[in-house]
Amino acid sequence: MNKGNVLLRGEQVTKVFGYGKQKTVAVDQVDFTFHEGEIISIVGESGSGKTTLAKMMMGLLKETSGQIEYRGKPRTLRRHKDRKNYWKDIQAIFQDPFSSFNQFYKVEKLLQDCLKLQGVTLSKAEENERMKEACSFVNLKFEELYNKYPFELSGGQMQRLMIARIFMLHPKLLIADEPTSMVDACSRSTILDMLLKLRDENKMTIIFITHDVGLAYYVSDTLYIMEQGKVVERGPAEEVILHPQHDYTRQLISDVPKIHEVWDLS
Ligand SMILES: Nc1ncnc2c1ncn2[C@@H]1O[C@H](COP(=O)(O)OP(=O)(O)OP(=O)(O)O)[C@@H](O)[C@H]1O
Ligand SMILES: [Mg+2]
Repeated sequence: MNKGNVLLRGEQVTKVFGYGKQKTVAVDQVDFTFHEGEIISIVGESGSGKTTLAKMMMGLLKETSGQIEYRGKPRTLRRHKDRKNYWKDIQAIFQDPFSSFNQFYKVEKLLQDCLKLQGVTLSKAEENERMKEACSFVNLKFEELYNKYPFELSGGQMQRLMIARIFMLHPKLLIADEPTSMVDACSRSTILDMLLKLRDENKMTIIFITHDVGLAYYVSDTLYIMEQGKVVERGPAEEVILHPQHDYTRQLISDVPKIHEVWDLS
């Protein structure tokens, strides 16, 4: 992969929850550098700090210490205006897609809001065309869904709808926290392929968060392995999988018994 400019960089990023005996160091002095168009997977066991790190990247949680730079400049999110600008560039897909939509809005309104966010004025016909195009990109039929509320959709439909939204917004950075947790294996590979296609078309940077090191290897350029709040290993995906340097990485790989057969490694 040809690396683009640095999009997001973190230095010694740390998050501590609680005080005294209750203290949890969820993320412990993590450094990261993500480039434009790069796909990175953050892999680690439950509780290793992946979601906490992702929330700091998104600016939803404030780091206890350390610094994050966006496009070569320190990221400041103190003012409402700064946050609004930053969040224009970022989209997220969460473990639980139900939490990502306003449950009181129908699909049509949810998609219309994406178009409004971009600040473009479209005629009703153009608007419908854009919404149809986004739905068909993720194999959903707009005519069947536009009048439904999120709770009337299946988990898989909802995850597709989230990707339709990303298709419309083309963010610079997409953070996908276990994006395929609610779908069957077939839809899972379709969703991943859709995301890879979006990356190719828009040069979007994608951060995948997953327990599944096999999946991470399949989709990413770069792997970050997390254990107890620390990044214990990082590097090009193939190098990390073929030549793991850290015991924890070896253990993760050996937990996927078929990785060598499935991905044809020898
Ligand atoms: N808001 C919070 N308040 C206190 N502790 C928290 C909070 N959020 C997370 N933690 C703690 O921080 C640690 C890391 O949690 P995090 O959700 O980042 O893990 P994770 O790697 O995403 O796990 P999973 O794979 O299960 O989603 C855990 O010990 C968790 O209990
Ligand atoms: Mg998590």
